[in-house]
Amino acid sequence: MAREMPPDARLYSVEFAEANAAIARRIWDHAGVTDRITAVVGSIGDGGGTLDTLETAHGFTSGALDFLFVDHDKAAYLPDLKHILERRWLHKGSVVVADNVRVPGAPAYRAYMREMEGTGWRTVEHKTHVEYQTLIPDLVLESEYLGP
Ligand SMILES: C[S@@+](CC[C@H](N)C(=O)[O-])C[C@H]1O[C@@H](n2cnc3c(N)ncnc32)[C@H](O)[C@@H]1O
Repeated sequence: MAREMPPDARLYSVEFAEANAAIARRIWDHAGVTDRITAVVGSIGDGGGTLDTLETAHGFTSGALDFLFVDHDKAAYLPDLKHILERRWLHKGSVVVADNVRVPGAPAYRAYMREMEGTGWRTVEHKTHVEYQTLIPDLVLESEYLGP
């Protein structure tokens, strides 16, 4: 992602396990992209603390998010997306990509995107496989935000 994004873009990874954040930082250092990525230790669903930190310490403002990748607790996909929508960080044309929507599965998130198709969101369901093999089918959802 860091290599593909525009030169003035910045990538933030929200990770609640400090040890995992430390590993991620070492990988980014090895890849030479440390200056463009920040790990924020916390969780979007922690009651507002991490959301507030993203606003006050990292400049998240209305319409500032072009792209969001969700690949954490599958049950948190939809509530976390709704928290982000409440903060109005997405803009018309922002893209949200969600991994593992079939396995382990994020049925509430998928149902929401289907229900909102053409009104709040336009979604393409990409057929793929669970990582590291080609036997178990999975889905990646790519959703364009159509605006509030
Ligand atoms: C599947 S891994 C992410 C892999 C990464 N996207 C990649 O492709 O290399 C999921 C990570 O999300 C973290 N995580 C799980 N639930 C979370 C939550 N509710 N808030 C923040 N981080 C969470 C886990 O600690 C784990 O490091």
